[in-house]
Amino acid sequence: MALLKHLLLSFTIIIISFVACYSTLQDEDPPSSIYVHDHSSFFDDGGAFKNLIKQSTEVLSLDMLDKLDNNNRHSSPKVVNVNDYGAKGNGHTDDTEAFKKAWEDVCSSGDAILAVPEENSYMLKPIRFTGPCKPNIEVQFSGTLEASDDPSDYSEDSRHWLVFDNIQKLFISGGGTINGNGNIWWQNSCKRNKKSPCKDAPTALTFYSCDDLIVKDLTIENGQQIHVSFQDSVNVKVSGLNVTAPEDSPNTDGIHITNTQNIQISNSVIGTGDDCISIVHGSKNVEATDITCGPGHGISIGSLGAGKSKENVSGILVNGAKIFGTKNGVRIKTWQGGSGSASNIQFQNIQMDNVTNPIIINQNYCDKKKKPCKRGKSAVHIKNVLYQNITGTSASDIAVKFDCSEKFPCKEITLQDIDLQCEGGDDAEALCNNVELSYLGHVRPRCISEKKKTYAITSLWKDYLWYI
Ligand SMILES: *[C@@H]1O[C@H](CO)[C@@H](O)[C@H](O)[C@H]1NC(C)=O
Ligand SMILES: *[C@@H]1O[C@H](CO)[C@@H](O)[C@H](O)[C@H]1NC(C)=O
Ligand SMILES: *[C@@H]1O[C@H](CO)[C@@H](O)[C@H](O)[C@H]1NC(C)=O
Ligand SMILES: *[C@@H]1O[C@H](CO)[C@@H](O)[C@H](O)[C@H]1NC(C)=O
Repeated sequence: MALLKHLLLSFTIIIISFVACYSTLQDEDPPSSIYVHDHSSFFDDGGAFKNLIKQSTEVLSLDMLDKLDNNNRHSSPKVVNVNDYGAKGNGHTDDTEAFKKAWEDVCSSGDAILAVPEENSYMLKPIRFTGPCKPNIEVQFSGTLEASDDPSDYSEDSRHWLVFDNIQKLFISGGGTINGNGNIWWQNSCKRNKKSPCKDAPTALTFYSCDDLIVKDLTIENGQQIHVSFQDSVNVKVSGLNVTAPEDSPNTDGIHITNTQNIQISNSVIGTGDDCISIVHGSKNVEATDITCGPGHGISIGSLGAGKSKENVSGILVNGAKIFGTKNGVRIKTWQGGSGSASNIQFQNIQMDNVTNPIIINQNYCDKKKKPCKRGKSAVHIKNVLYQNITGTSASDIAVKFDCSEKFPCKEITLQDIDLQCEGGDDAEALCNNVELSYLGHVRPRCISEKKKTYAITSLWKDYLWYI
């Protein structure tokens, strides 16, 4: 009897090792995808990494900006109406010069409002609203701004239409519409017309070097390329934006954040042909709350590390989002060969609705259409990422995809309370490649290769029991 038990035990061990090898072999030769193997992955069931995310992503205090709000002004400001400088507002006369003169007046006066009245439509060529200005500058865009759609008007600077440059304590609101009239640029884009060369197109609205900035209640539509860009700025509060462009308009990111620190975006509706929000190098302490996103490519960190660059992003919190019909939900993408890091990132309380890649990290990103990207010797490190309370449906079978680098695996990634299934109601899968992962609470789907092994073991074990 003891001998039989011993035999049984050895047989079991042999079977289990066979199964483990078998599933590893299987993983090494996946049928159609490069993602399916995770020998270097590490699974932990205790949420070990969650607390490693630094406090900074949890609270971002921009209260000091509230005093910029016009409701809190004490003196009565000077109002400079663009019409007083000769703007016609009929939608086709070039009003650029009138806007420039009105701006000079506002900027040099201080305690002043640039007013763009409602019900008028102003056609503008590229224009730079430049500082530094006297304190307390406000802009009220209540009417409509229409971009000139003649690309030759952009010959001096083909990358910008409206720019606010080097203005401190600026408050912009008004409920108006900013229309980039991007159609001509979309048609000429190399993404649409393969014969066209890849050229820059203007960003509709750029904030460059603006510290202590509030932007609220504006519609920005049909951007030539990026709709709104925040660059090299500190302390920015954005709310009530409505950003729209057709789903097939190329590279029309909604809100793009570069090298900007302490920025909060809330209560905004974004649907374009590219990322709803994209957060790239040098950005730190970025908070996005109550975002409605779709169509488009979702909320994206990166790409980082293109052209072997060293790039960092840290302290990102996306809290409260409804993402529907997009290519990606929440994404981190980095190029091989770059360096730097993406760290302390939280995505939480997100509802996905028919999103193709709801949760995705791609550390092997490559956007070169012609030749494939070479394997890089280095990588942008990705660590401390928490996905929490993310539910809904995936348009593809793969709801969770971690495609991390073999040499620099994604570290300290936590999935907590995740419930994603296929749009039709079937179970979705997770593909995990070189990721150090921890599960907390109810998580579905879990990584596929781990699941496969478990299945293999239990089903063979059943057969074996059946024989004895
Ligand atoms: C956003 O703007 C678009 C186009 O201007 C408009 O159709 C839509 O109703 C707006 N949505 C919201 C929520 O304001
Ligand atoms: C990235 O972060 C590292 C470590 O925090 C720092 O040493 C490096 O200077 C940063 N690089 C850039 C380009 O911000
Ligand atoms: C989870 O997120 C949803 C939004 O998708 C929110 O309505 C719900 O309150 C969140 N649940 C918890 C426990 O925070
Ligand atoms: C889900 O998305 C897919 C592709 O993105 C689309 O073909 C399909 O019609 C969508 N389903 C629903 C129910 O919206």
